[in-house]
Amino acid sequence: MASTLTPSTSAPVAHNALPPPSTSSAGRSSRIAPHSHIKGLGLTADGLANVDAAGFVGQTNAREACGVIVDLIKSRKFSGRALLLVGGPGTGKTALALAVSHELGPKVPFCPMVGSEVYSTEVKKTEVLAEAFRRAIGLRIKETKEVYEGEVTELTPTESENPLSGYGKTVSHVVVGLKTVKGTKQLRLDPTIYEAILKEKIVVGDVIYVEANTGAVKRVGRSDAYASSYDLESETYVPLPKGDVHKRKELVQDVTLGDLDAANARPQGGQDIMSVMGSLVKSGRTEVTDKLRREVNKIVKGYVDQGVAEVVPGVVFIDEVHMLDIECFTYLNALLESPMAPTVIFATNRGNSLVRGTADIVSPHGVPVDLLDRCMIVKTEGYSSEQIVKVLRLRATVEGLKLGPGVLEKLADKAMKSSMRHSLQLLAPASILATLAGRSQIEVEDISEMTELFLDARTSATMIGEGGFDGGKMW
Ligand SMILES: Nc1ncnc2c1ncn2[C@@H]1O[C@H](COP(=O)(O)OP(=O)(O)OP(=O)(O)O)[C@@H](O)[C@H]1O
Ligand SMILES: [Mg+2]
Repeated sequence: MASTLTPSTSAPVAHNALPPPSTSSAGRSSRIAPHSHIKGLGLTADGLANVDAAGFVGQTNAREACGVIVDLIKSRKFSGRALLLVGGPGTGKTALALAVSHELGPKVPFCPMVGSEVYSTEVKKTEVLAEAFRRAIGLRIKETKEVYEGEVTELTPTESENPLSGYGKTVSHVVVGLKTVKGTKQLRLDPTIYEAILKEKIVVGDVIYVEANTGAVKRVGRSDAYASSYDLESETYVPLPKGDVHKRKELVQDVTLGDLDAANARPQGGQDIMSVMGSLVKSGRTEVTDKLRREVNKIVKGYVDQGVAEVVPGVVFIDEVHMLDIECFTYLNALLESPMAPTVIFATNRGNSLVRGTADIVSPHGVPVDLLDRCMIVKTEGYSSEQIVKVLRLRATVEGLKLGPGVLEKLADKAMKSSMRHSLQLLAPASILATLAGRSQIEVEDISEMTELFLDARTSATMIGEGGFDGGKMW
């Protein structure tokens, strides 16, 4: 029976909910694992929502509204504006924002943050916001460069005696053989390029290109001919390049303004694109200041005017926006008006509440009215018990859990009394109970036991209201 003890291992596990990071800076993904079943907005070609699609259940109005926003962002007509998602807890606001990021694709920068992230003892609140905004503006740089490209057929470093030290030998040059569909070529390269080859971990059989002017080496992937029979691996396979080894090639690099700021604040040597871009503004600065940002902007504008680069406005997503205070809100107004502003999506589950940082300004969603005025507001609806059953079923599949008869109904019933999130959260611990009992699927009794072990927020609140646990002596 050993095989039935563990939940199915072949099912996808709940992680990696974010799309692949669009740029080097957007690699924060761990927060959002509960949304790994969301694959997109699930809209038809004419922008209408399929009832249940792409992991999304119901919520058709909000999804259609987000679809319009996605279209606007893609056609670059929504920069500097804001969308506010409002609705009760657990109604899918965070999920919607993630679906928007899926729809935009990996090339449009998507920079998620939580309102409370601005509070730090080291960085000013406004700096955190400004940085997020910069990381959400992409720059696509197109260059036609002279390169040597092909599959590596030979990689032979030639060593020679080092005249300076009596013992060690140094690499005097490296011979690299490159093959394309059309022909082969042997290159004799400088030792510094050999270092770059080692750094990129290039071996025979990889497809690479070497920039003729700078000597920068880039690994494109492994050649098709070496494709293995593994089902899963991290390698990308590419076909043998066409044309000559020595040719002109259009290279496209995606960076964000945030990357450029950081690179210029800490210039370092090197041959990769970031170090080259990092030397745009010549100085030994270590801090990103407004002045530095303006200088980077100026240079970027020059590139755009010359047609070398293209600005790709992305999205800043600020979850739990009511956590921001009045200072941040005022600064947001200014950021939204700046010439290079991304699209902003806010989400909150608050109704009328006090604006943080003020003594008595009560405003809808805890957002001051002047910022609210700039937002388009989309409301998420509560769920019916059938819809909750569907979401629970989706989650069970994604987490690789098997459910016995009646479990979904019981959980949905609990969700109607407390919240959908509470029921979703019971799935994983219930599966542990089932495993302990030697079962491969969760049964109704596991859920009942869960209910005894864990309280939902509402029950807890009621108990406190009635005098607290142990007659109020607990605290
Ligand atoms: N319509 C839906 N279809 C599928 N899954 C959903 C849907 N709505 C919510 N979920 C899932 O339910 C859980 C809770 O939703 P989510 O975190 O998006 O709520 P929220 O509106 O952001 O809540 P809060 O206001 O508490 O932040 C998540 O795991 C989410 O993926
Ligand atoms: Mg949320």
